[in-house]
Amino acid sequence: MIIAMGNDHAAVEMKNDIKAYVESKGYEVIDFGTSTGESCDYPVYGEKVGRAVASGKADYGIAICGTGIGIGIAAGKVKGVRVCTCSEPFSARMSRRHNNTNVLTFGARVIGVEMARMIVDEWLDNQYEGGRHQRRVALLGEIENR
Ligand code: RB5
Repeated sequence: MIIAMGNDHAAVEMKNDIKAYVESKGYEVIDFGTSTGESCDYPVYGEKVGRAVASGKADYGIAICGTGIGIGIAAGKVKGVRVCTCSEPFSARMSRRHNNTNVLTFGARVIGVEMARMIVDEWLDNQYEGGRHQRRVALLGEIENR
């Protein structure tokens, strides 16, 4: 399993921690940066993560900025990407089970690293349930085609 990761300058430390954590869980990580605290533009990194997932280069993506919002909006612009931006584990779990989200984002200025790890655990350890949810997830894809 390959996870694409990306972040802006607000989330370098958080990205480094979560990257090591995800690797310790047995995942391979493609790190699209940024790796320095120099000010940069979150849409660039959100798009990189989104494209890696949409193209199949990565199975899932995790993207982090100050709030998780901007980088989530950016990743979600890529066709085929379903983003979960969240600050607690319940939404992360349900977004995998019901919405088949394939990119997770959160904010380094919003939550601490222990909460981030908990969110990552719930998101990675839960599977899409399909069934009644599939029609709705398919409808999301249809929006992209209109
Ligand atoms: C950068 O200052 C900040 O705007 C960015 O990290 C993020 O929070 C945007 O959504």
